[in-house]
Amino acid sequence: MYVCICNGVTDADIRRIAADGCRDLHELTMRSGCGASCGSCRDLAAEILSDHQPQALPLPILPVAA
Ligand code: FES
Repeated sequence: MYVCICNGVTDADIRRIAADGCRDLHELTMRSGCGASCGSCRDLAAEILSDHQPQALPLPILPVAA
């Protein structure tokens, strides 16, 4: 679906940009133009960006040898 009508940015574009390492709305705007015009899409774009941040993998806790 189109999130940013002004600049033709879709939710798939935002998910792809998030997967490429984008962490905040300012960077998303710089990369895609999303939110750079009327700004009415910014809240939804930020929500999608936040929901698609890569999750850190849980690391195992190893016992320390004495
Ligand atoms: S809808 Fe995104 S800047 Fe207008």
